[in-house]
Amino acid sequence: MANTKTLDDLFLDTLKDIYFAEKQILKALPKMARAAQSEEGKAGFLQHRDETQGQIERLEQVFEILGKPARGKTCEAIQGIIAEGEEIMEEFKASPALDAGLISSAQAVEHYEIARYGTLIAWANQLGLQDAVPLLQANLKEEEATDKKLTQLAVAAANTKASSKVA
Ligand SMILES: [Fe+2]
Repeated sequence: MANTKTLDDLFLDTLKDIYFAEKQILKALPKMARAAQSEEGKAGFLQHRDETQGQIERLEQVFEILGKPARGKTCEAIQGIIAEGEEIMEEFKASPALDAGLISSAQAVEHYEIARYGTLIAWANQLGLQDAVPLLQANLKEEEATDKKLTQLAVAAANTKASSKVA
């Protein structure tokens, strides 16, 4: 039998993927905040936790626009990125390189999300889902701003601290 799936199906699948991912990130961010050594790092992770809560709500609005129940679909990519972050927390615990490592994990998360939102926005436009576009764009903007902030944290302090040798 011919596979009749179309862009609508891809859009819904990908929406479920990012919905699952955001929920995993919501759980991971407080752990990262606890692990971070610098106050700026802690504050940054907690602020993005709050933003993520809002992003999840926007995604729920997109499900509503589609007339579909808000349901996640296991995203192995985000599970892998988060697992790598946990590995860094474990292996670099109490080391000068911990925050640089945490920031790098968080940036991997942000870039995954940026890729997903970019695609979803293009598909929403193609599908004529006018009301979904600004919701997805709002999430994309927050991810991009977070990514920039993480770069600043890394460059301003974490990378320098990470390169110092412990006597
Ligand atoms: Fe997010």
